[in-house]
Amino acid sequence: MRHLLSPLDFTVEELERLMNLARDIETNREKYAHTCEGKKLATLFYEPSTRTRLSFESAMLSLGGSVLGFSSAASSSASKGESVSDTLRMISCYADICAIRHPKEGAAYVGAQAASIPVINAGDGGHQHPTQTLTDLMTIRSLKGRLSNMTVGLCGDLKFGRTVHSLIGALVRYPGIRFVLISPRELRIPDYTRENVLEAAHIPYEEVTSLDEAMPKLDILYMTRVQRERFFSEDEYLRMKDCYILDKNKMSLAKEDMLVLHPLPRVNEISVEVDDDPRAVYFRQVQYGVYIRMALILTLLNMDIEGGKSC
Ligand code: NCD
Repeated sequence: MRHLLSPLDFTVEELERLMNLARDIETNREKYAHTCEGKKLATLFYEPSTRTRLSFESAMLSLGGSVLGFSSAASSSASKGESVSDTLRMISCYADICAIRHPKEGAAYVGAQAASIPVINAGDGGHQHPTQTLTDLMTIRSLKGRLSNMTVGLCGDLKFGRTVHSLIGALVRYPGIRFVLISPRELRIPDYTRENVLEAAHIPYEEVTSLDEAMPKLDILYMTRVQRERFFSEDEYLRMKDCYILDKNKMSLAKEDMLVLHPLPRVNEISVEVDDDPRAVYFRQVQYGVYIRMALILTLLNMDIEGGKSC
């Protein structure tokens, strides 16, 4: 039995197979429509979510399986004091696979130790968000045709943004990746990412505050929102919240084939006037998220697809 707790739980070759499966699902939806009949996915969301939870549910339903779960800590026994470990032991009796989102870093790891079904980390505090990373990799690979030899700009809240931490960790495994990390000083990437990931792998990167200056260099621009719920003070959030706003003027500084990604939800950091720009792919990214989660469910459930294992 295997889990997905960090994007590094899959080798580059396994990720390649996963994305190939997702691509096949995209082009042959009917072929997969009954592959998970009789299987159940539990979604345990202790933190708000629209995309990730519904994306998992849509993925399982599209495979012919069914879903159960809760969408807030208040509506679960966590409000009575039940531990994540006990909930996961119990859920293992109800479902075949589960996705968990929790405000505490490491919660999915703790839950996986108690579970007897595959556990998917759907976001643990400000730490990791591996299925968003799978979505991001799938989007870049599908639309750029490669995951190597690129300058990737990450902009916004790089301190608390778990999607950023997971994406950096995943991308450093591909050759020729350079990063431009664009944030206010207060929201720079955590030291553990800088030291244990970027510097340990000798990845070229620069930390800058100006989005305008970074724009012309970038092949990918990954925008993120300022993570209000992880700030200790509301005043500090208000001071940071509009630190970057991507608009048409800024887009005019970018390469013709640069792609703009965003894990969503967007607050103010991308002006709606950018949505019609063909380089803005954040809504297409949502669709790729469903295909890659379908591929992930099949893989973790070890389902046979046309006689061959999925991964
Ligand atoms: C992200 C998350 O939850 O970390 N959203 C998502 O899952 N698509 C990003 C965010 O909330 O800013």
